[in-house]
This record gives sequence, C-alpha cells and structure tokens, in this order.
Amino acid sequence: MTFELSTLTLRFKYNNMKNKGVIILGSARSNGNTYEIVSFLQKNTGFDCIDLKTKNIGGFDYEFQNKEDDFLPLLRDIVQKYDTIIFATPVYWYAMSGILKHFFDRISDCLISEKELGRQLRGKNMGMVSCGSGPELKTGFTMPFVESAHYLGMHYLGDIHTWLENDGIPERVKDIVLVFSEEVKIKLKIS
Ligand SMILES: Cc1cc2nc3c(=O)[nH]c(=O)nc-3n(C[C@H](O)[C@H](O)[C@H](O)COP(=O)(O)O)c2cc1C
Repeated sequence: MTFELSTLTLRFKYNNMKNKGVIILGSARSNGNTYEIVSFLQKNTGFDCIDLKTKNIGGFDYEFQNKEDDFLPLLRDIVQKYDTIIFATPVYWYAMSGILKHFFDRISDCLISEKELGRQLRGKNMGMVSCGSGPELKTGFTMPFVESAHYLGMHYLGDIHTWLENDGIPERVKDIVLVFSEEVKIKLKIS
C-alpha cells in the first residue's frame, strides 16, 4: 500500500514536471533585449530557460562532424524534461537569429541518424516569441516555426512579437506577454 501511494506521488510529480515548459533563448547576447522579454515571460509562466549562447552548437554537417558538440545532449535533456518549448529569438535581418537557425538545422541530425530522438518531439508543444526593434514584424517571419512544428508533429501554440523602448518593456508589450502566458497556461492546463 505504501509502495502504491509513493508510486502515485512520484508519477504525479513527474507529470507536473513534464508539464513545465522551457524557453530556448536564441539571442547573440545573453543579457540583451530578448533576454529581458524572456525574463518577464518566465515570471509569468515559471518556465525554465536555456540560453543557446552558452552552448557549443555547430551548424548542420552532412558528415555529422559536429555530433560531439552540445546539441544532442541538450535535445535529449529537453525531450526528457519538457513537453512545451517556447523559442525566443531576436529579429536579425527579418529572420530568426543564426544561433537559433543552427539549432533548427541540427534537428535534421535527428531525422537522419538519431531518429528515435527526433520522434520524441512528436506530440510536444511549440511556441515562439520574437523581439525586434519595433512593433512591425514582416509577413512570413513565423512561417518556419509553424511549418517546423507541423513537420515534426508538434502542436503549435502560437507566437507573439515584442520589442523594447528606452531599454524597458513598454506596457503594451507587457500586456502582449501576459495574455500569451495565460493562453499557454490554459492550453497546458497549468495554473
Ligand atoms: C544583426 C542584426 C540585425 C537586425 N535586423 C533587424 C530586423 O531585420 N528587423 C528588426 O526589427 N530589428 C532588427 N534588429 C534589431 C534587433 O532585432 C533588436 O534590437 C532586438 O531587440 C535585439 O535583441 P537582442 O538584444 O536579444 O539581440 C537587428 C539587430 C541586429 C544586431
């Protein structure tokens, strides 16, 4: 009986932990504008954050010459711990950052040689937060995220565009982040 109860407790804790999401910060600087937005999002979701700038992740290579870098252990860790991944990227030249694009390109490793790891992304949730120099985000920016989620069998939770003014988060942007946080929490059924 005691054993059954503790198993249930453990299972409950495990499920709760899995329900927690992770924000993957893809900025070329660890403490920049995108980080400011990520910190605010973290406060409202309790999600963890992984800063890609602190990882050594090389580009996709057809001969998998980068297979010993940080990508595979990082992705294994993410799929094991989280069911929800929110990508946070600055807008660099109308597109996601290079550091985040490398991360996406490397998912191809999992479609070719680490197939089981790639399959574990299926059924997970993806969202995206962009941070630019102002309110305008060109049409098409979100497409790679929507289509990648679709290709990988992930549920796309949605996205928001943000920016800073005078080194701070404008009230309008705080509202955008708050609404997004609530929507994500409702979709994941967490409080
Ligand atoms: C290389 C580079 C390219 C940029 N290109 C754009 C752009 O196309 N559109 C835009 O709105 N802002 C652009 N910006 C401005 C950044 O998106 C903006 O300052 C962002 O908040 C920076 O976030 P970070 O501090 O995390 O890098 C660019 C900045 C850099 C450094």
